[in-house]
Amino acid sequence: MSAANLVMQSYGRCCASPAFFDDFYRHFLASSPLIREKFVDTDMSAQKQLLRQGIMNLVMHARGMPDSKLRALGESHSRQRLDIRPELYDLWLDALLLTISEHDKECDADIRQAWREVLNKGIAVIKSGY
Ligand code: HEM
Repeated sequence: MSAANLVMQSYGRCCASPAFFDDFYRHFLASSPLIREKFVDTDMSAQKQLLRQGIMNLVMHARGMPDSKLRALGESHSRQRLDIRPELYDLWLDALLLTISEHDKECDADIRQAWREVLNKGIAVIKSGY
């Protein structure tokens, strides 16, 4: 199966797991005070819904969708706006992979590798807008 399809199915299992987004933000916020600082004024329940769609955009991009949604994220996360420095995406990726391993009961080394491939491709588009 292609990396994009492995990821699509894994993401389906993650989204069906009720605490997936709570656990992601718990791990992500715990990873650095820089991250916590960025989210001090954020409505986290709304943010969880936004991220659900944001990850879907990354997955769809790997399946051949145009990159316009990711370019828009690149703009909102750019230096002039949210100012999300490129190295912070490493913490994001680590927190997400940890959460996937916890919630996708079928997760194995191949699935983790497929996620890395898919996410890195989309993250590169977002970072290029910094
Ligand atoms: C907002 C997705 C990485 C911090 C958002 C939104 C989405 C999103 C969909 C809401 C819409 C928007 O503002 O454009 C993503 C995805 C990421 C990512 C898919 C990874 C590929 C990061 C990282 C940080 C971050 C690494 C670092 C702290 C924020 C903040 C907001 C935001 C502070 C605004 C929260 C608010 O409204 O108060 N993100 N994001 N994001 N993101 Fe990200």
